[in-house]
Amino acid sequence: MIFRPPGKEDGAGILTLVHRLGVLDINSAYAYMLIGEHHAGTSVVAEIDGELGGFISGYLLPADPETLFVWQVGVAQAGRGKGLATRMLAEILKRPACADVRYLDTTVGPTNEPSQGLFRGLARRLNARIDETELFSAELFDAFDEGEPHDPHEPEILFRIGPFDADAVSALSS
Ligand SMILES: CC(C)(COP(=O)(O)OP(=O)(O)OC[C@H]1O[C@@H](n2cnc3c(N)ncnc32)[C@H](O)[C@@H]1OP(=O)(O)O)[C@@H](O)C(=O)NCCC(=O)NCCS
Repeated sequence: MIFRPPGKEDGAGILTLVHRLGVLDINSAYAYMLIGEHHAGTSVVAEIDGELGGFISGYLLPADPETLFVWQVGVAQAGRGKGLATRMLAEILKRPACADVRYLDTTVGPTNEPSQGLFRGLARRLNARIDETELFSAELFDAFDEGEPHDPHEPEILFRIGPFDADAVSALSS
Protein backbone atom coordinates (compact mmCIF):
# COMPACT_ATOMS: atom_id res chain seq x y z
CA MET A 1 0.00 0.00 0.00
CA ILE A 2 1.15 3.52 -0.69
CA PHE A 3 -0.11 6.88 0.54
CA ARG A 4 0.28 9.87 -1.74
CA PRO A 5 -1.17 13.35 -2.22
CA PRO A 6 -4.05 13.28 -4.75
CA GLY A 7 -3.77 14.95 -8.14
CA LYS A 8 -6.58 16.36 -10.24
CA GLU A 9 -6.58 13.09 -12.20
CA ASP A 10 -7.74 11.32 -8.99
CA GLY A 11 -11.02 13.28 -8.95
CA ALA A 12 -12.99 10.67 -10.91
CA GLY A 13 -11.59 7.79 -8.82
CA ILE A 14 -12.47 9.51 -5.55
CA LEU A 15 -15.98 10.24 -6.83
CA THR A 16 -16.37 6.56 -7.82
CA LEU A 17 -15.26 5.45 -4.33
CA VAL A 18 -17.66 7.92 -2.70
CA HIS A 19 -20.51 6.46 -4.78
CA ARG A 20 -19.55 2.93 -3.72
CA LEU A 21 -19.37 3.81 -0.01
CA GLY A 22 -23.00 4.87 -0.16
CA VAL A 23 -23.00 6.95 3.03
CA LEU A 24 -21.05 10.10 2.21
CA ASP A 25 -22.52 13.19 0.60
CA ILE A 26 -21.73 12.91 -3.12
CA ASN A 27 -19.99 15.98 -4.47
CA SER A 28 -19.19 16.78 -8.10
CA ALA A 29 -16.19 15.50 -10.05
CA TYR A 30 -15.15 19.14 -10.24
CA ALA A 31 -15.10 19.43 -6.43
CA TYR A 32 -12.90 16.31 -6.13
CA MET A 33 -10.56 17.61 -8.85
CA LEU A 34 -10.18 20.83 -6.83
CA ILE A 35 -8.98 18.73 -3.89
CA GLY A 36 -6.09 17.46 -6.02
CA GLU A 37 -5.46 20.83 -7.63
CA HIS A 38 -5.58 23.06 -4.54
CA HIS A 39 -5.43 20.89 -1.41
CA ALA A 40 -3.09 18.00 -2.28
CA GLY A 41 -0.75 18.82 0.63
CA THR A 42 -3.53 18.36 3.18
CA SER A 43 -5.30 15.43 1.47
CA VAL A 44 -4.32 11.82 0.81
CA VAL A 45 -5.21 8.81 -1.29
CA ALA A 46 -4.31 5.22 -0.38
CA GLU A 47 -3.46 2.89 -3.26
CA ILE A 48 -3.76 -0.83 -2.64
CA ASP A 49 -2.48 -2.98 -5.54
CA GLY A 50 -2.97 -0.02 -7.86
CA GLU A 51 -6.58 0.49 -6.73
CA LEU A 52 -7.81 3.52 -4.80
CA GLY A 53 -8.67 2.02 -1.41
CA GLY A 54 -9.21 5.16 0.63
CA PHE A 55 -8.96 8.92 0.68
CA ILE A 56 -9.15 11.93 2.95
CA SER A 57 -9.92 15.44 1.72
CA GLY A 58 -8.80 18.27 3.97
CA TYR A 59 -7.60 21.84 4.00
CA LEU A 60 -6.20 24.45 6.37
CA LEU A 61 -8.83 26.93 7.55
CA PRO A 62 -8.12 30.11 5.54
CA ALA A 63 -8.62 32.30 8.62
CA ASP A 64 -6.75 29.92 10.95
CA PRO A 65 -3.90 27.93 9.36
CA GLU A 66 -3.21 26.21 12.72
CA THR A 67 -6.41 24.23 12.11
CA LEU A 68 -6.68 21.34 9.65
CA PHE A 69 -10.28 20.81 8.54
CA VAL A 70 -10.98 17.20 7.55
CA TRP A 71 -13.84 17.26 5.06
CA GLN A 72 -14.43 13.63 3.97
CA VAL A 73 -12.85 10.30 4.89
CA GLY A 74 -13.58 7.09 3.05
CA VAL A 75 -12.14 3.57 3.16
CA ALA A 76 -13.30 0.83 0.75
CA GLN A 77 -15.31 -1.86 2.51
CA ALA A 78 -12.59 -4.53 2.22
CA GLY A 79 -10.00 -2.31 3.91
CA ARG A 80 -11.96 -1.25 6.98
CA GLY A 81 -11.18 -1.97 10.61
CA LYS A 82 -7.43 -2.29 9.98
CA GLY A 83 -6.32 1.18 11.03
CA LEU A 84 -6.16 2.58 7.48
CA ALA A 85 -8.16 5.76 8.15
CA THR A 86 -6.12 6.44 11.31
CA ARG A 87 -2.87 6.03 9.34
CA MET A 88 -4.12 8.35 6.58
CA LEU A 89 -4.86 11.05 9.18
CA ALA A 90 -1.35 10.61 10.61
CA GLU A 91 0.13 10.81 7.09
CA ILE A 92 -1.49 14.22 6.52
CA LEU A 93 -0.65 15.61 9.98
CA LYS A 94 3.04 14.70 9.48
CA ARG A 95 3.33 16.57 6.17
CA PRO A 96 5.22 19.89 5.93
CA ALA A 97 1.91 21.62 5.10
CA CYS A 98 0.72 20.76 8.63
CA ALA A 99 3.90 21.71 10.52
CA ASP A 100 2.05 24.50 12.35
CA VAL A 101 -1.24 22.63 12.83
CA ARG A 102 -2.37 22.41 16.48
CA TYR A 103 -6.09 21.61 15.98
CA LEU A 104 -8.06 19.24 13.78
CA ASP A 105 -11.68 20.11 13.01
CA THR A 106 -14.15 17.75 11.39
CA THR A 107 -17.86 17.06 11.45
CA VAL A 108 -19.54 13.77 12.27
CA GLY A 109 -23.11 12.59 12.01
CA PRO A 110 -24.68 11.71 15.41
CA THR A 111 -25.34 8.12 14.23
CA ASN A 112 -22.04 7.56 12.36
CA GLU A 113 -20.25 5.33 14.89
CA PRO A 114 -17.27 4.45 12.65
CA SER A 115 -16.59 8.14 12.04
CA GLN A 116 -16.92 9.01 15.73
CA GLY A 117 -14.69 6.04 16.61
CA LEU A 118 -12.05 7.23 14.15
CA PHE A 119 -11.80 10.76 15.55
CA ARG A 120 -12.13 9.76 19.22
CA GLY A 121 -9.29 7.31 18.62
CA LEU A 122 -7.14 10.01 17.00
CA ALA A 123 -7.77 12.40 19.92
CA ARG A 124 -6.74 9.66 22.35
CA ARG A 125 -3.53 8.99 20.40
CA LEU A 126 -2.75 12.72 20.34
CA ASN A 127 -3.60 13.01 24.04
CA ALA A 128 -5.92 15.88 23.09
CA ARG A 129 -9.43 16.86 24.10
CA ILE A 130 -12.45 17.01 21.78
CA ASP A 131 -14.93 19.90 21.97
CA GLU A 132 -18.28 19.02 20.39
CA THR A 133 -20.72 21.64 19.07
CA GLU A 134 -23.37 21.57 16.36
CA LEU A 135 -22.02 23.20 13.18
CA PHE A 136 -24.78 22.56 10.60
CA SER A 137 -28.28 21.85 11.90
CA ALA A 138 -30.72 19.48 10.17
CA GLU A 139 -32.87 22.53 9.43
CA LEU A 140 -30.07 24.12 7.40
CA PHE A 141 -29.89 21.00 5.20
CA ASP A 142 -33.68 20.88 4.97
CA ALA A 143 -33.79 24.41 3.56
CA PHE A 144 -32.54 22.93 0.28
CA ASP A 145 -35.59 21.83 -1.72
CA GLU A 146 -34.63 19.06 -4.14
CA GLY A 147 -38.14 19.10 -5.60
CA GLU A 148 -38.81 15.51 -4.64
CA PRO A 149 -39.16 13.59 -1.35
CA HIS A 150 -35.78 12.89 0.25
CA ASP A 151 -34.44 11.52 3.51
CA PRO A 152 -33.66 14.24 6.04
CA HIS A 153 -29.94 15.00 6.49
CA GLU A 154 -28.52 14.49 9.96
CA PRO A 155 -27.05 17.51 11.71
CA GLU A 156 -23.27 17.74 11.46
CA ILE A 157 -21.51 17.92 14.83
CA LEU A 158 -18.19 19.77 14.88
CA PHE A 159 -15.44 17.80 16.61
CA ARG A 160 -12.58 20.17 17.45
CA ILE A 161 -9.55 18.12 18.50
CA GLY A 162 -6.65 19.88 20.22
CA PRO A 163 -4.47 21.53 21.04
CA PHE A 164 -1.79 18.95 20.24
CA ASP A 165 1.90 19.45 19.60
CA ALA A 166 4.46 18.30 17.04
CA ASP A 167 5.79 15.57 19.37
CA ALA A 168 2.34 14.00 19.65
CA VAL A 169 2.02 14.05 15.86
CA SER A 170 5.50 12.51 15.42
CA ALA A 171 4.54 9.67 17.74
CA LEU A 172 1.57 8.64 15.55
CA SER A 173 2.05 5.46 13.49
CA SER A 174 1.68 6.04 9.77
C1 LIG B 1 -15.12 5.88 9.04
C2 LIG B 1 -14.12 5.05 8.24
C3 LIG B 1 -13.33 5.97 7.32
C4 LIG B 1 -13.15 4.37 9.24
O1 LIG B 1 -12.12 3.72 8.47
P1 LIG B 1 -11.24 2.54 9.09
O2 LIG B 1 -9.99 2.44 8.28
O3 LIG B 1 -12.06 1.31 9.23
O4 LIG B 1 -10.92 3.13 10.55
P2 LIG B 1 -9.75 2.60 11.54
O5 LIG B 1 -9.51 1.14 11.30
O6 LIG B 1 -8.59 3.52 11.44
O7 LIG B 1 -10.45 2.75 12.98
C5 LIG B 1 -10.33 3.93 13.75
C6 LIG B 1 -11.09 3.74 15.04
O8 LIG B 1 -12.51 3.73 14.75
C7 LIG B 1 -13.07 2.53 15.28
N1 LIG B 1 -14.08 2.04 14.37
C8 LIG B 1 -13.90 1.71 13.07
N2 LIG B 1 -15.04 1.20 12.55
C9 LIG B 1 -15.94 1.22 13.57
C10 LIG B 1 -17.30 0.84 13.66
N3 LIG B 1 -17.95 0.29 12.59
N4 LIG B 1 -17.95 1.01 14.84
C11 LIG B 1 -17.31 1.57 15.90
N5 LIG B 1 -16.00 1.94 15.88
C12 LIG B 1 -15.34 1.77 14.71
C13 LIG B 1 -11.92 1.56 15.38
O9 LIG B 1 -12.18 0.56 16.36
C14 LIG B 1 -10.78 2.46 15.76
O10 LIG B 1 -10.84 2.70 17.14
P3 LIG B 1 -9.48 2.79 18.04
O11 LIG B 1 -8.76 4.02 17.58
O12 LIG B 1 -10.02 2.91 19.42
O13 LIG B 1 -8.70 1.55 17.77
C15 LIG B 1 -14.82 3.93 7.40
O14 LIG B 1 -15.67 3.19 8.24
C16 LIG B 1 -15.65 4.47 6.23
O15 LIG B 1 -15.13 4.71 5.14
N6 LIG B 1 -16.96 4.68 6.47
C17 LIG B 1 -17.85 5.21 5.42
C18 LIG B 1 -17.60 6.68 5.15
C19 LIG B 1 -17.74 7.54 6.40
O16 LIG B 1 -18.68 7.41 7.18
N7 LIG B 1 -16.76 8.47 6.59
C20 LIG B 1 -16.73 9.36 7.76
C21 LIG B 1 -17.50 10.61 7.57
S1 LIG B 1 -16.70 11.77 6.48
